[in-house]
Amino acid sequence: MTQRAFIKTYGCQMNSGDSERIRGILVAHGYEMVSDVKEADLAIFNTCSVREKAEQKVFSDIGRLRGQKERHPGFRIALCGCIPQVQREGILRKNPLIDIVFGVNNISGLMDFIAEAQQGKRTCRVEDEFFESEYDMPSQREDAMKAFVTIMNGCDNYCSYCIVPYTRGRERSRSAPSILAEIRQLVDDGVREVTLLGQNVNSYRWQDKAGALVDFPQLLHLVHDIPELQRIRFVTSHPKDFSEAMMEAMALPRVCKYLHLPIQAGSNRILKLMNRGYTREEYLAKIARLKERIPGVALSSDFLVGFPGETEEDFLQTMDILEQVEYKQIFGFNYSVRPETKAATMADQVPFEVMNERLNRLFAAQQSISHRLQQTYLGTTLGVLVEGASKNNPAMLAGRTDFNTIVHFAGGAELIGRLVDVHINETREFTLYGEVLAHAH
Ligand code: SAH
Ligand code: SF4
Ligand code: F3S
Repeated sequence: MTQRAFIKTYGCQMNSGDSERIRGILVAHGYEMVSDVKEADLAIFNTCSVREKAEQKVFSDIGRLRGQKERHPGFRIALCGCIPQVQREGILRKNPLIDIVFGVNNISGLMDFIAEAQQGKRTCRVEDEFFESEYDMPSQREDAMKAFVTIMNGCDNYCSYCIVPYTRGRERSRSAPSILAEIRQLVDDGVREVTLLGQNVNSYRWQDKAGALVDFPQLLHLVHDIPELQRIRFVTSHPKDFSEAMMEAMALPRVCKYLHLPIQAGSNRILKLMNRGYTREEYLAKIARLKERIPGVALSSDFLVGFPGETEEDFLQTMDILEQVEYKQIFGFNYSVRPETKAATMADQVPFEVMNERLNRLFAAQQSISHRLQQTYLGTTLGVLVEGASKNNPAMLAGRTDFNTIVHFAGGAELIGRLVDVHINETREFTLYGEVLAHAH
């Protein structure tokens, strides 16, 4: 009988990219993917450690499968991703329901771990080293038109609050030829949009045997040369490494005019304690320069609220950044103490109620900014990658802008998979409506 697998992904897009590879392996081995865990013979939880809550959530999700495990003796549970990189065998000891634990650099071994688990053995395999060959496998994308492509792994920045350098390890760039080959294959298979992934893509560096160096702006140019690829996205950019050459690469026609540039906090004192490597002035200067080079560029950011020692004055500096930059969208988080990080030992931890109140103020301020920005699209023309029939009205088409807003418009099926220019004649809170003008490419 066909084996069925379920996978749930927590955390960032690095994990989403890994889940695509996990699906690729399973499907290549005859598994059927199911979206309801109750139908599964194998449940995989691809985990995140970045905040304590994310960790707790996965263990409570797994706890709910106790009944299924008792009823279905063949049912196996695997936990992978970032939690194993720190907790390793401890996970098996503490959680009798879990059969398989594997790390972010052990995905290619999945079928062996499953075979062991089917024989009743509990397995934990966690490697610290990143292997290029881990990426030589087929991926199974959830979306036929869009794909994630991991270009690097790890992070060397050691922001004082962050666990990622301990989970994903040292920063390592994948070889440019292997990235380009993967994207060419994806495009042959019908993919039209790729998102290049790394914790800090601006520091991508790869050297060939002759010593020629490919940095991130150059990689963007190389990817841009691939015919038929309509759109290129990338995350995450670190402000300290976002260069003039990057702004130039962003001007390429098929590179999205959208930048996620996390500032985290607006106070120089806090930025220093966070070990972010830039000041608010440097950040704002880069934003100003980018807005000048790429008119209409859409911006987003992450904010970490309640870092140890954050005062009301510090926080007001963060609020001020919001007003000055005018982000399209923000992601905000309450500070969460992570083991092994430098900030875990810092004095003056901010009480939860205080940071939560600050975070809510941040979200409220952003809401009116987002609302205001959304209205500015009225009467403008935006590039839209046509994805298919609109979900709420199958007679219409739907697609996304550079900054991921859904746009609805009338048009024929021949436009699906193409980048078109849409004139916006109606704005709603989260979506836009318009008319196709012409094919952009
Ligand atoms: N490499 C990216 C993001 C990594 S994690 C960057 O440098 O921006 C994604 C987001 O989680 C971070 O931007 C930060 O806002 C948040 N985050 C990281 N550690 C955290 C912690 N200890 N508590 C709360 N939020 C955290
Ligand atoms: Fe974490 Fe900082 Fe690295 Fe981002 S750059 S992953 S926040 S250590
Ligand atoms: Fe989480 Fe790991 Fe990403 S800790 S944010 S899934 S790199």
